[in-house]
Amino acid sequence: MRFDVLTLFPEMFSGYMSQSILSKAIEREQVSVHVHNIRDWTKDRHHKVDDRPFGGGPGMILMVEPVVNCVRDVQAMSEEPGLVILTTPQGKRLNQPLCEDLASDHKRFIVLCGRYEGFDQRVIDILQPMEISIGDYVLNGGEVASMVLVDSLVRLVPGVLGDDLSSWDDSFSRGNRILEYPQYTRPRTFEGHDVPEVLLSGDHGAIEAWRKAKSLENTKQKRSDLLE
Ligand code: ADE
Repeated sequence: MRFDVLTLFPEMFSGYMSQSILSKAIEREQVSVHVHNIRDWTKDRHHKVDDRPFGGGPGMILMVEPVVNCVRDVQAMSEEPGLVILTTPQGKRLNQPLCEDLASDHKRFIVLCGRYEGFDQRVIDILQPMEISIGDYVLNGGEVASMVLVDSLVRLVPGVLGDDLSSWDDSFSRGNRILEYPQYTRPRTFEGHDVPEVLLSGDHGAIEAWRKAKSLENTKQKRSDLLE
């Protein structure tokens, strides 16, 4: 899976990309992430990327020319044209089934990070990106949303998590539309809190039944909407 991230703040991605699962996936060449600075696609001396809105109003608007040129040049960097995604609070809400569809239908994503008060509408009219929101709140820019998107897609690439079943089993995934069961590791007892006896029993049938029941209980308590 290949990601091209287009941003005015490329340095925001360096720490994120060096974190363990992603950096290992990059090292193993299961995933590549290429970060591009939209400012490099400006033609004027001052590298201007934004301007005041026509008709007046607060804030600055990202200009159409550097953004469209940047996307077109980046698209040409690989034979796979890729799905162009714009991170914006106006977009389709990202959830696990959408992540699964994206990961199975596409090998390459060109992710445009929004900033300022928004883009010139012609960016959207010309590029027709898929607009994605990570939730009903407004971030200062699309960079954090892009990292959320990359992070949720990378773990669906076969082999990235080591054991393919571990993402299939995640809360909200198509394999499991309810929340996960609680997990424990050593020590067996801590400050009077014991690991449930059944998990130490070695009885795999009983463990599975306990986990199913706990998943359901957890979901009823925290996210009953998932059971409707
Ligand atoms: N940019 C600003 N807010 C956002 C959000 N909620 N989702 C995606 N991109 C955004």
